[in-house]
Amino acid sequence: MYDFDKVINRKGTGCAKYDAAYTDDDQLVSMWVADMDFEVLPEIREAVIERAGHPIYGYPIITDEYLNCVVRWMKDRHDFHIEKEWIVCTGGVVPTLKLAVQAFTKPKDHILIMKPVYYPFDDAIKKNDRYVVECPLLFDGEKYSLDPDLFEKKIAENDVKMFILCNPHNPLGIVWSKEDLLKLGKICQKYGVIVVSDEIHMDFVYSGYAHIPFYKVDPSFKDFSIICTAPSKTFNLAGLWTSNILIANETLRKQFEDAKDRCGVTDPNIFGIAACMAAYTYGDRWVDELIDYLQGNVAYMKHFFAENMPEVKVIDPQGLYLVWVDFRSLGFDKDQLEDFMLHKAHVWLDEGYIFGMEGAGFERFNVACPRSILAKALNQIKEAYNKIKAAE
Ligand SMILES: Cc1ncc(COP(=O)(O)O)c(C=O)c1O
Repeated sequence: MYDFDKVINRKGTGCAKYDAAYTDDDQLVSMWVADMDFEVLPEIREAVIERAGHPIYGYPIITDEYLNCVVRWMKDRHDFHIEKEWIVCTGGVVPTLKLAVQAFTKPKDHILIMKPVYYPFDDAIKKNDRYVVECPLLFDGEKYSLDPDLFEKKIAENDVKMFILCNPHNPLGIVWSKEDLLKLGKICQKYGVIVVSDEIHMDFVYSGYAHIPFYKVDPSFKDFSIICTAPSKTFNLAGLWTSNILIANETLRKQFEDAKDRCGVTDPNIFGIAACMAAYTYGDRWVDELIDYLQGNVAYMKHFFAENMPEVKVIDPQGLYLVWVDFRSLGFDKDQLEDFMLHKAHVWLDEGYIFGMEGAGFERFNVACPRSILAKALNQIKEAYNKIKAAE
């Protein structure tokens, strides 16, 4: 058994999660960015150390052995048969989204995203002088869902050229069903919309759900889409900048590779390559145990709120280690909620509104941490709230 309960001090390692701000707050629990606090898979560490042990760090190439590891992972974990030729390596999914915007659209084009969604989607579009078309997801107070008619209307009315899909969906925890993916894909196909399917969280799916890669929904979807994958969320390798983009269609692949060349987006570095191969070769059991542990954390959190702050609503995640929580019933506005979490409860979260204004009053919790840390954060929230209530 791997030990996900082990607490490791990351402060002072130059990591964004702990060292980017609020470093003088000793009580602060950091649960914002999607970065896990668990010790890395031992074989990954060994592979990186072994590579570092060779005294020459020159330019790498992407070997067949590397590509075979990616193919194996997709086949065994997702029953997803991919060709080695489809894989284009890049140094990160966010750089890839920006690259895809440049490769497949022109300035002033319209690109659709389903809000609330991972905020760099917005950024990738706007910073490249394209327009964002927002298609909000429906929320019934418990669950989010797709409105296919609105999706189609937004595409038709705005002459949308690209759709950036997030599956599983950060921050809402949706693992899109085959039925929904089919509807989305068919509409995009009808209107000639390129789909960029960001599947970086594909390995985090909870029991009762299955991740369906976009190409598996319908074989014809290969003609107009690309899939962004990476070992970086699953194995927490974000600092190694390694991603594998799947592009089955030759024309799209050429367009993407040309844009990659123009922009100077790099391949992964020598350590990222070593880490990805080790992850995809030795990581199965680690990921299985990790998912069990994360499900335990989600259950712990739901139970805690139900017992102590029943007015707070945890949106049941179908996947991801990011949990979307509705605090609107506490009566804070978005700035008060942010101030409460940071300065009264001393818990650093990603504020719901950064994912779109529909997220105001919500918080995104990263529960990929030892349970003791999660318990500390939740207790601090409860105690800070009780203090406010007692003072009223
Ligand atoms: C949906 C999604 N895409 C991409 C990323 C980041 O990818 P990268 O670190 O490879 O740029 C994240 C990180 O949280 C994410 O949630």
